[in-house]
Amino acid sequence: MSAKQQRLYINIDHVATLRQARRGAEPDPVEAAIACEVAGADGITAHLREDRRHIQDADIMGLKEKVQTYFNLEMACVAEMVELARRIKPEQVTLVPERREEITTEGGLDIISDPSRVKSVIESLTEARIRVSLFIDPTPAVVEQAKTLGAVAIELHTGTYSHHPDSPKTIAALRDSARRGAELGLAVHAGHGLTVINVGPVAAIPEIEELNIGHSIISRAVFIGLDRAVKEMREAMRSARSS
Ligand code: PXP
Repeated sequence: MSAKQQRLYINIDHVATLRQARRGAEPDPVEAAIACEVAGADGITAHLREDRRHIQDADIMGLKEKVQTYFNLEMACVAEMVELARRIKPEQVTLVPERREEITTEGGLDIISDPSRVKSVIESLTEARIRVSLFIDPTPAVVEQAKTLGAVAIELHTGTYSHHPDSPKTIAALRDSARRGAELGLAVHAGHGLTVINVGPVAAIPEIEELNIGHSIISRAVFIGLDRAVKEMREAMRSARSS
């Protein structure tokens, strides 16, 4: 059976990081989002952090207005963000953990110790017709909990895999969790730390229908431009999927 076409959503936070280094207007993440779409991205992802360290509220408005493909808003499971998402209505929200002192998202969302909070956020966003995905660690028990809480999608955290891509355990955890998610009827996404070098084994997992990739594409774009960086990643995904 041939694997279904896999979507590539590009996380444009790091374009905003560069802009915020000077607190100016350039480079504009909305312009970057449009360039990614022209290059073949299936969707755009942006994380509005509570500390507003990169993406700003105005960027979210601009993305909502200009993105033609699909807008996936990453955000913490807090009232301020829920209220904002319900007002702006991105197509999808991915709920992520957030710690102020972290450099990037570390670990998946804890959906085990405070399930009622996560459940009520899912309900509130779903009621506003927003598709909700949970960014979780790749373990079958957490996947099952995501289903119990009412999410329709999960994004498997590929951070451990990306640090140890040659470990059979890290890719097996992603494969097993993706299979369990699909068995439960969840849409399965993945992301974090993926590059053209390590994306192959993840892209080849048939149940994974969407990848969210940011840092490596924006980094490559410094040298080869955004258009080629997006196409290079697309090709790496396509060839892994078809082989
Ligand atoms: N998915 C989620 C939920 C994330 O938080 C991030 C990082 O912002 C990514 C994907 C993309 O990770 P990277 O920038 O390492 O490709």
